[in-house]
Amino acid sequence: MSDSRRLRIAVQKSGRLSKDSIELLNAIGIKLNIRDRLLIAHSTNEDIDLLRVRDDDIPGLVMDGVVDMGFIGENELEEKMLERAAAGKPADYEVLRRMDYGGCRLSIAVPNEMDYANIETLQGKKVATTYPFLLERYFKEQNVNAQAVMLTGSVEVAPRAGVADAICDLVSTGATLEANGLVEKDVIFRSKAVLIKRTGEMPAAKRELLERLVPRIDGVMQAKE
Ligand code: PRP
Ligand code: ZN
Ligand code: MG
Repeated sequence: MSDSRRLRIAVQKSGRLSKDSIELLNAIGIKLNIRDRLLIAHSTNEDIDLLRVRDDDIPGLVMDGVVDMGFIGENELEEKMLERAAAGKPADYEVLRRMDYGGCRLSIAVPNEMDYANIETLQGKKVATTYPFLLERYFKEQNVNAQAVMLTGSVEVAPRAGVADAICDLVSTGATLEANGLVEKDVIFRSKAVLIKRTGEMPAAKRELLERLVPRIDGVMQAKE
């Protein structure tokens, strides 16, 4: 299968973090031969393999030690931690750096025509989301009895489709909400991309490679400031 001497890095295959993560790896001198349909890309100049996967899978891949590092949104990471804690599963990882990209917020949004005063308006209602653990934590903090309805995609259509009364989804420009006749109300989590690393032993060569990469990342981020 894989060569354990090669450093394995997970990036989102397609989505808000893909382009910036790949550009960063290029900027620190890692040559990658990425072909669209291939989920694994081997670096031609470093002992690095890139795994291109769904962002939702990245925290688990790092926590299970399947990959050594991953670029992931803090929202996905926090959701996975809450999910694992609820299931009594370990969720170890280390944050190496907080990146300067991937900024977004997880927000509650309601249909334009809803008479929304505050979060209590959602008492007894259904809210569609891909982040049920973060949403339920927020409901608990706010003492609101509402139901999170899990949808893995197209969350924005849930109110029109009669699946839920409101939604809780990621917002960056707000264009998706507007296109779907929704208004952002409560921000429940602010997120950026982070670079995370698995815990546990690592062969020396791999650890040294990783230790060489992180300062290069700092250099690229400082140059952009
Ligand atoms: C998020 C969210 C919206 C969109 C909002 O999806 O689910 O679809 O971004 O962005 P906007 O405010 O700029 O319009 P994402 O790109 O994370 O993909 P995913 O839902 O497939 O994970
Ligand atoms: Zn996702
Ligand atoms: Mg989406």
